[in-house]
Amino acid sequence: MLVFVPPHPLIKHWVSVLRNEQTPCPIFKNAMAELGRLLMYEASRDWLPTVTGEIQTPMAIATVEFIDPREPVAVVPILRAGLALAEHASSILPATKTYHLGISRDEETLLPTVYLNKLPEKFLEGSRVFVVDPMLATGGTILAALNLLKERGIQNKQMKVISAVAAPPALQKLSENFPGLHVYTGTIDPDVNDKGFIIPGLGDAGDRSFG
Ligand code: PRP
Repeated sequence: MLVFVPPHPLIKHWVSVLRNEQTPCPIFKNAMAELGRLLMYEASRDWLPTVTGEIQTPMAIATVEFIDPREPVAVVPILRAGLALAEHASSILPATKTYHLGISRDEETLLPTVYLNKLPEKFLEGSRVFVVDPMLATGGTILAALNLLKERGIQNKQMKVISAVAAPPALQKLSENFPGLHVYTGTIDPDVNDKGFIIPGLGDAGDRSFG
């Protein structure tokens, strides 16, 4: 498994805005959306296939390159907080399909429960899937999500995880269970406390995005 923390000043900036406990809800949600845009941009590099062609400009014929529309791309936001991080997916990725997954973590046991599953029974052949969840803490939630994709035939190399903050327990579980997976995250933090919160982290991403 490879974990990327793209060294981009805007990524550092939006992570810092998210971390600040003084950041109000609408600004927090906007910062999360901007961070998601940048991470999906970085994760698309060398991953989305292009096709060349010729196009008539107002002046002449130009050779051009487009994202290949025959290659399916899907986005799977994990509700709730993943909705904020995935907000710009459909504007930066041409022709994506969005499949929502609602997963909540029990506050006592920290175990995930899937309460909404809009994944298709079968993905289109060769699909590339962005799985979007801001917080990778104990890793229970992201593991549950990736296992649902695996059951539908999606291979590790076909998925990229997009997150704002990742912690060692989640990264460890991902690396043991999904070799070859690529994770793009705004930052890696050192700890998860006994209540399952990433330390220093940014608090509860769902509550801070949606109030
Ligand atoms: C939070 C967070 C992740 C998950 C991470 O979601 O947004 O989805 O916990 O925890 P884990 O790695 O320990 O499983 P939460 O269950 O609070 O739902 P929400 O997004 O609706 O707030």
